[in-house]
Amino acid sequence: MAIGERDPHSGHLTTGHEWNGIKELNTPVPRAVWFFLILTVLFSIGWWILMPAWPLGKTYTKGLLERDERQLVNERLERERMKRSDWTSPILARSAQAILADPVLMNAVREDGARLFGDNCAACHGMSARGGMGFPDLTDNDWLWGGSADDIARTIDFGVNSSKSPYSHRSQMLAFGRDGILDNDAVIAVATYVRSLSDATSARGDSPQAVATGRTIFAENCTSCHGADAKGNRELGAPDLTDTTWLYGGDLQTVYTTINEGRQGEMPAWEMRLNPVERKILTVYVLNLGRHR
Ligand code: HEC
Ligand code: HEC
Repeated sequence: MAIGERDPHSGHLTTGHEWNGIKELNTPVPRAVWFFLILTVLFSIGWWILMPAWPLGKTYTKGLLERDERQLVNERLERERMKRSDWTSPILARSAQAILADPVLMNAVREDGARLFGDNCAACHGMSARGGMGFPDLTDNDWLWGGSADDIARTIDFGVNSSKSPYSHRSQMLAFGRDGILDNDAVIAVATYVRSLSDATSARGDSPQAVATGRTIFAENCTSCHGADAKGNRELGAPDLTDTTWLYGGDLQTVYTTINEGRQGEMPAWEMRLNPVERKILTVYVLNLGRHR
């Protein structure tokens, strides 16, 4: 077969090879493909020389440009820190009252505080910080552990019943019924009495006898923590039982369950999980929630 023969079907020249009557067409790789192939190979060789590329045991080829992503991130973080320190330093240095009085700092507190609260606190206290069953409302001015800046900071730093720190709050409402300290009638009577403290009409009207018995039982068993006037004790985290704010609920059934089975609320400690600026922001944020009621 002659070289340069043209295939009548496709119009291509043949290479001159023939197997059992099948001829090979001469269709080389198009030039554009060669061009891009060579270009990409040259590019990658250039890239290997300029940028960090090849692992060499414990190290790697650093490249002529000595570009280091880790260092870039650190520089960027440092720049952000400098930018933030404009307001994080005064937040650390100033008292909560001074921050509350500073509209510029309060803007940062509101913004960062809302984010921190949403990420760390809202799961228990609710997005609006109004709490729920067993989780206190942080927007009212009714505090289990005190509502000063120092009190709130301590609760946030060391938690309640959850940290080993000696500064952590510890509290327990005893299980008077379950642990056999009071019999069932006595639990019902003292629950009725507790109800009468905040809701005179229903409880007193229902069973004046139980209220009278309950008062005696209360004086003997409960005043050491809740106080003779039942107004609670912030040293012990014992709630005021005379107001209409309830941590667990103020209906007779819930009050009965509280006294029968006891309660022990747990609030995590944030000392090891959030940095000092974040905790200070949250303290001021919580204080500020209470101011707008
Ligand atoms: C796992 C659930 C949980 C999370 C998360 C949580 N808390 Fe609490 N918090 C509680 C409980 C429960 C109490 C009440 C403890 C008690 O019964 O004494 C409490 C109490 C408090 C108190 C004291 C309220 C008072 O009346 O004295 C403050 C302040 C507080 N939390 C702030 C925060 C902040 C700020 C965060 C986020 C950093 C947070 N909490 C995250 C469960 C939680
Ligand atoms: C050792 C201290 C202590 C004693 C004694 C005690 N309490 Fe309490 N009580 C607490 C604490 C602390 C809480 C809050 C529990 C929590 O935050 O989880 C509480 C909570 C309660 C609540 C829930 C209030 C709410 O807002 O939901 C009721 C009701 C109550 N106590 C009634 C009583 C009665 C009645 C007695 C006596 C029979 C009594 N307590 C004795 C410490 C005590």
